[in-house]
Amino acid sequence: MRIVIGSDHGGYELKKVVAAALRDRAIEVEDVGCHTSDPADYPGFAHAVAEAVAAGRFDFGVLLCGTGLGVCITANRHRGVRAALCSEPYSARMARAHNDANVLCLGGRVVGPGLALDVLEAFLSTSFEGGRHARRVAAVEP
Ligand code: RB5
Repeated sequence: MRIVIGSDHGGYELKKVVAAALRDRAIEVEDVGCHTSDPADYPGFAHAVAEAVAAGRFDFGVLLCGTGLGVCITANRHRGVRAALCSEPYSARMARAHNDANVLCLGGRVVGPGLALDVLEAFLSTSFEGGRHARRVAAVEP
């Protein structure tokens, strides 16, 4: 599995935890930045992750900012990207099972590392159910 990850400064510390956990699972991780805790505008990182996922170069994307909101809003402007902001495992499971989400968004100032890793695990271990949900997901694109 290949995952592309990105954050602004608000998600930078949590991104390091998430990226390490992914690599521990032998998942290939590409980090598009940011690479320091200096203030950095979130849209550029969100566009980079979204473009990479939309182009099919990665299985999933993970995006982080302070709340997870800015990166989620930005990523969802890309056709074919379904980014889901999740702060607990149930939403992460449903984002995959019902919404076929392909980008997980996390708020570095919202969830701690333990909860974030539970959310990540729920996201990665759940498959899209298809069926009636496939019809609904197909109807999402305007
Ligand atoms: C940066 O202060 C903060 O606005 C950003 O990380 C994010 O939360 C935006 O949605």
